[in-house]
Amino acid sequence: MLSNILIWLAFVAVVVWLGWLTFRAWRAKNKLVKFAGGSMSSLLTLVLALVTGVLLVGMIKAYAPRSAPVPELKSAGSPEQLERGKHLADSFCASCHSPTNELPLTGGLDLGKDFPMPLGSFVSANLTPGGRLKDWSDGEIFRAIRNGVDRDGNWLFVMSGARGRFLSDADIEALIAYLRSQPVVTNDTPMPLDQPNVLGFLMLGTGLLPAGEAPITEAISMPPKGATAEFGKYILSYQDCVACHGEDLSGGEPGQLAPLGPNLALVKKWTQEQFITTRRTGIDPDGHALNNQVMPWKNIGRMDDEELAAVYAYLTSLPLSVAVQSTP
Ligand code: HEC
Ligand code: HEC
Repeated sequence: MLSNILIWLAFVAVVVWLGWLTFRAWRAKNKLVKFAGGSMSSLLTLVLALVTGVLLVGMIKAYAPRSAPVPELKSAGSPEQLERGKHLADSFCASCHSPTNELPLTGGLDLGKDFPMPLGSFVSANLTPGGRLKDWSDGEIFRAIRNGVDRDGNWLFVMSGARGRFLSDADIEALIAYLRSQPVVTNDTPMPLDQPNVLGFLMLGTGLLPAGEAPITEAISMPPKGATAEFGKYILSYQDCVACHGEDLSGGEPGQLAPLGPNLALVKKWTQEQFITTRRTGIDPDGHALNNQVMPWKNIGRMDDEELAAVYAYLTSLPLSVAVQSTP
């Protein structure tokens, strides 16, 4: 934060210096210096002053204290909760919170490296009791997962936009139980975890990067676990399928940041068996091998049979249609 204030002050210093040069140029006796130099440096001063202003807006957005409710709760840590929490951590959180994709959730993965532009570093947190969660209450961990705010009221950039915020209250409590049960692993992650660079702050300042969703304040419930379309709908509420396959799953929009996923109407041609096998092996019924780089089937394939059957039931219940190809 201090180094960012210094960077910003450096921008201000350059603007002031350019302003001074402009002032000198307009007072020069030489006509060329006066008009050509004066207008050039006026323009430059103006542009840089604008950039400095946007930078300040970006920094304020990033560092202004955030608030979201801290629920009064204590995860009981029942065997069922531990099992469910571990399962969610494995099939979902591990894709970001583990450099190997495996449990425990030691963090340390820099997601900034995966962004299509260099926006800074955003390192996932160590979620084992070797990290800082050991000093947080269950309610504070709940708030971080649901609303992307840390114990001290700082904005958690990635978490605040991740779909994990739509997990039900019960699932978040199960996750907290599992997080606490992990072995202590010391893994010194940089502090703060989010370190946007100048481009990152500028994009925040202009609104090209989202500055976090409004806090969710009402409870989120979930349907009973089972191979139903209803439960499949719940799974898709927190999984990232829509980021790539489009808001209504009819295919991504060219130009989107995430990899372009196809229209999921194609699942209707498959049996449930074929769908599950594709998720587990990465090979679809036509023998096409999915690229795990763009379609994360490995993590998704860790869902159990019941969950995958639920996703299948949901996808095939959607009013999606495949464009009919006219055969020549
Ligand atoms: C898309 C990647 C991604 C996913 C998925 C993800 N996280 Fe995170 N998480 C991060 C990053 C990066 C941070 C560091 C702060 C930030 O940018 O949000 C973080 C921070 C956190 C923190 C704050 C810890 C601290 O020390 O500040 C908690 C708690 C957390 N994550 C829990 C979870 C849980 C539980 C899941 C699964 C339900 C999960 N996260 C899924 C990327 C992710
Ligand atoms: C990061 C982006 C991304 C996410 C997240 C994602 N997909 Fe995909 N998906 C893709 C891409 C890209 C392809 C095409 C891959 C290929 O053909 O190799 C694809 C292909 C598929 C296919 C078709 C496979 C075939 O044989 O043509 C199905 C079915 C599918 N995804 C379902 C899902 C479901 C369900 C989810 C969420 C649980 C999901 N995807 C999450 C990007 C994604």
